[in-house]
Amino acid sequence: MKNVINQEDVNQVWGAFWQRQAKSDFTSLFTQRLFLEGYPVFKKYIPKVDNLKVLDVGSGSGRYGLQIARDFPQAEVVLSDIVQSSVDFMKNLVQWSSLSNMKVKQEDIFNFSFPDNHFDLIFCDVVIQHLSRDSDAIREMKRILKPGGLMMVSGVNKYNFHSIYKLLIKLSRKKYLYHFERSYSHSDLKDLVIKNDLLLVSEDGFYPAYGVFRLKYISPFFKFLGKLIDFFLKILVSRFFLSREKKKILQIVKMIISKSNILAW
Ligand SMILES: C[S@@+](CC[C@H](N)C(=O)[O-])C[C@H]1O[C@@H](n2cnc3c(N)ncnc32)[C@H](O)[C@@H]1O
Repeated sequence: MKNVINQEDVNQVWGAFWQRQAKSDFTSLFTQRLFLEGYPVFKKYIPKVDNLKVLDVGSGSGRYGLQIARDFPQAEVVLSDIVQSSVDFMKNLVQWSSLSNMKVKQEDIFNFSFPDNHFDLIFCDVVIQHLSRDSDAIREMKRILKPGGLMMVSGVNKYNFHSIYKLLIKLSRKKYLYHFERSYSHSDLKDLVIKNDLLLVSEDGFYPAYGVFRLKYISPFFKFLGKLIDFFLKILVSRFFLSREKKKILQIVKMIISKSNILAW
């Protein structure tokens, strides 16, 4: 795995990925564990106000943006991605959903076509980890976020089983499916917030056993082990590790940030 990657490589990896997914059954997108575990965590932060303008950045399949559009029918949701195969995928998804409060646009996170101060909510799930200039991406999202708007950004947690999975892939000289992928510690994410003059309003996370499930390529036993770990960690976290510090260690995805001038809530 290379440490530095250029955008053409990223586009190639994801372009091919979404092309392979083109024949997916749309219903199954909403029953995958990553989505089932993640979506409710994001949803609880979405403000329940009329006419919320939402941008889903690097939407991939578009399932998160679509679910937001479903759950917040008064919102206007734009699904966006840089690669054409994702845009094609999402156009079919939107048609399949018959929802009318969604649009699909091809957009580059480093250079959006939207004006300044345009969106109330920018949602960006597991995208910046694949980019070489993650801080520049945050800065461009901040430009199009309204003052007081909310930016939800997530990335994989460095202190998670997933890092062991990636190490094993590296040691066995296999190619990692997504090629380049950075992992974030709590302070890495916090630095991005501070560097871009944003205000951290909340942190959260989900799916601690993600990396264990991925080891199922070695043996199906890991799928079972993943389920077991997921189950017990959830109990453990909710019962014994309620402090913010301890919770963070077990989280895979986190970071909820807002623009600095107005506290969102
Ligand atoms: C891991 S997928 C995330 C998909 C989706 N957000 C989700 O959570 O299911 C990363 C996505 O980021 C997109 N991406 C990569 N570079 C981008 C860029 N410069 N601008 C916009 N999207 C980009 C890729 O095409 C890919 O669809």
